[in-house]
Parts: sequence; C-alpha cells; structure tokens
Amino acid sequence: MADSADKKLSIFDLQEKVDRGEKIFQVTAVDFPTAQLVDRSGVDCILIGDSLGMTALGYSGTVPVTMDEMVHHAKAISRAAKRSILVGDLPLGAYHACKEDAINNAMRMVKEGGADVVKLEGGEEFASTAKAVVDAGIPVMAHIGLTPQLMSKLGGFKVQGKSAIAGAQLLKDALALERAGCFAIVLEAIPDRVASLITERLRIPTIGIGAGSGCDGQNLVLHDMVGLFDRFAPKFVKKYADCWGMISKALTDFQTEVKQGQFPLTEHSFSMKDDEYRAFLKAVDSD
Ligand code: KIV
Repeated sequence: MADSADKKLSIFDLQEKVDRGEKIFQVTAVDFPTAQLVDRSGVDCILIGDSLGMTALGYSGTVPVTMDEMVHHAKAISRAAKRSILVGDLPLGAYHACKEDAINNAMRMVKEGGADVVKLEGGEEFASTAKAVVDAGIPVMAHIGLTPQLMSKLGGFKVQGKSAIAGAQLLKDALALERAGCFAIVLEAIPDRVASLITERLRIPTIGIGAGSGCDGQNLVLHDMVGLFDRFAPKFVKKYADCWGMISKALTDFQTEVKQGQFPLTEHSFSMKDDEYRAFLKAVDSD
C-alpha cells in the first residue's frame, strides 16, 4: 500500500521501473472513490478508460462514449489521484477525422479533465496522429491488438495477431508507434508469444491486458477484477474479489433488518433531552 504522501509519478518513472526489472501496474478506474482506492494501492497508472462506457454508463460497448463523458469522469478521477500517472483515453471520434481534432481533444483531456497523458487506439495508420499529439506536448500511450473502438472492423471482441501475418503486423504497428514518440503501449488480447517478442523488440514499455506475462506491465479494469461488472468476463480477467455479491448481500440484509426491527437501533438514532421532549409535546398539542 502506497503512502498517500508519495510523490507524483511521471512517465520517466515507468521506464526506470522497467530498467530495474520491475513490473508496471495500470488499473482502469471510473470515478472518485474507485480512483482513490487505485491511487492508494500503489499502482503506477490510473487509466481513465473508455471501458467506463460499459462499467459506469451501461452502454453495450465503448463506441457511444463521447469526449464530454470522458472529461466528466476524468475530472472526478483527477481529484482523487495524488500519486499515479493519469492516462486519459480519447474515445472513438475524438482523433479519427484529423490531427487537429486529436490535438484539441488531447488538450481538453489534460486541461479540463486533469489527465497527465492520453491514450489512443490504433496501429501504424495512427502513428502520424500520435506524433502530432506528442509534438503538441502531450505524451501518448498507444494501444494495439484488440481495440474495442474498432470492434465492427475487427469482427467483435476477438483475440488479435493469431496468424503469422497478423502477428507481424502488430510488431510493425508497435514499432511505428514507438518511432512516433509514444512513451508506452498497451497490448490487448494478443497471443503471449507475440506480445513477448514485441516487448523484446521495443524500447518503450509494453502494458499487457490479455497478452501474457512477458509484457513490462499489466492492466486490468477495476470493475472486472473486483467483480463489479456482471455482463461478461473476458478470459484474461482474474476476479480478485466478489464486490457484486457483497453489495447484493448488504442490500438484502438491509431490507431484512428493517422488516425485522433490527435496524435502525438506538446507536443509529439521535436523542432529545426529556424536558425538551416534554416541551415539544406541549408545543404540538397546543396547536
Ligand atoms: O478502456 C480501458 O479500460 C482500456 C483498457 C482495457 C486497456 O482501454
């Protein structure tokens, strides 16, 4: 558990961790309390991921998430995060039409949302967009493999890079994004051997989610890892807690105890002095 007085991390700390042979930890949070929990746990990066469209907003995927929604959540998260690097996801449509959009929306994420850096999905076709944002002064984390914003193009939530050609393309993508100046890259849902080779060939850190243990770091979505999302669980998720079960039980217990007169008890109530209560009865009776 990190001391809340620990210093704020920077992107250079990530590279230093990798150089020391240590792992990087990144967790997706969606609001003030979840960001406080994640920040205080000692992880390096809090991802303000557009997966919040599913875990916090109830959409069926990340496609409908807007820049306004991302900034709204980023503001709450940035009020909580004292130590971790805040990575703000740019949603679908925020950087796809032109580089100006990418720069303007990256600036919004940093200026309004309070993020330290931004993340954008896509391979070598987005390298020049990533470079434009980096050149404008905002560090970029890349994201390749399963890129949920382009789910229709990929044919659904599917493992990527399974064929020799597709795996080789992922390496090309990663190298192009590194050359573009990205400081780290998320590898999502790709075969572990492909992810390990990409990690070996890159200088910048790789952060895997469903990409095996050979990556420089690991990312999980908080709602998945603590069991707060009941729709589906990808194979790569490990559930470390059952918060859904705990909260459901608390809600049932609350109703049972109220029905049975076990809540609230005297310790949950506020008292009034006897003479004050007598005066109160007189006052209401005299009306
Ligand atoms: O939105 C998100 O949480 C992500 C991670 C799955 C990498 O992009």
